[in-house]
Amino acid sequence: MPTINKHNRNKYCLITGATSGIGFELAKCFAADSYNLILVARNKQRLQEVTDLLKQTYTVEVTPVPKDLFRPAAARELYETTKEMGITVDVLVNDAGQGEWGPFVETSIERDIDIIQLNIISLLSLTKYYLEDMLQRNEGKILQVGSEAGTTPMPLLSVYAATKAFVLSFSAALSNELKDTGITLTVLLPGATDTDFFHKAHQEDTYVYRETALASPEEVAKDGYEALMKGENKIISGAKTKMHVFMNDLLGTKASTANARKQNEPSEKAGEPVTPGHAASRVERERINERTGGSDGDLP
Ligand SMILES: NC(=O)c1ccc[n+]([C@@H]2O[C@H](COP(=O)([O-])OP(=O)(O)OC[C@H]3O[C@@H](n4cnc5c(N)ncnc54)[C@H](OP(=O)(O)O)[C@@H]3O)[C@@H](O)[C@H]2O)c1
Repeated sequence: MPTINKHNRNKYCLITGATSGIGFELAKCFAADSYNLILVARNKQRLQEVTDLLKQTYTVEVTPVPKDLFRPAAARELYETTKEMGITVDVLVNDAGQGEWGPFVETSIERDIDIIQLNIISLLSLTKYYLEDMLQRNEGKILQVGSEAGTTPMPLLSVYAATKAFVLSFSAALSNELKDTGITLTVLLPGATDTDFFHKAHQEDTYVYRETALASPEEVAKDGYEALMKGENKIISGAKTKMHVFMNDLLGTKASTANARKQNEPSEKAGEPVTPGHAASRVERERINERTGGSDGDLP
């Protein structure tokens, strides 16, 4: 029987990207601490499964809100939906994000713009809407899921890395603006983590995915959750990622960009599809297959 944290039992946390990978693990951290949850992702069936699972495991309210944050209107709709439900969002977690591997001239412009919409515009819009309400109460917490990729340009993942550079810069500026208020903003920088991200990004045959040790989404989420609760402005998750970020700073842009390229070059070990070790991320892929009628978890 989970212990109930009475302090949080009337509080609500909204998490985008809560059905897989880091977002799913963050949802578990909040639920374990008695926060009620509003979970956002596109796939309704998977959202319901995660809702049921969290309700069975923890004594919290869980509300699924299916929303495609590639759509420009979606962030405002989501905000209006929670208003209509009469929910006060005490904690906002902007986790949903995607990337696309490949030389910039070869990726589709539609996919590039979708990624900018999701990783930047939807994150920025949700931050604006919920922050205005938090400021009126002078209380609230925001967690932005950035990336190590935001600390250096990344050839072959150029648009994604640039979106995460935005998240890092925007978050640092905003935490400074909020320093004399009751609101804290934390940006989480994970390194390469074992989720379905690489598959969605067509990045599975790269050196970084095939040949380096990936972080576990559980550890990344724990780091983010703890830093958020302490009101820290930035958390780089894991010793390896801390070292990478330190080296990027030390080497400067040209050399760190060249290193980032090596990480994203095709691996000599490329071949058979890889299955994520993380169970929730495997289910994410299965649900995509069911929706598309495919077998490899590829989105249309
Ligand atoms: N994995 C890594 O190596 C890594 C490293 C650094 C940072 N990050 C960041 O961590 C965050 C989470 O990624 P992850 O690795 O946990 O990936 P993941 O396992 O692929 O999970 C992505 C989550 O976002 C949701 N999502 C994707 N597109 C969406 C959309 N258009 N609208 C609403 N929800 C959407 C997915 O559900 P649906 O598909 O049902 O929508 C899923 O719940 C991202 O911001 C990513 O950039 C990941």
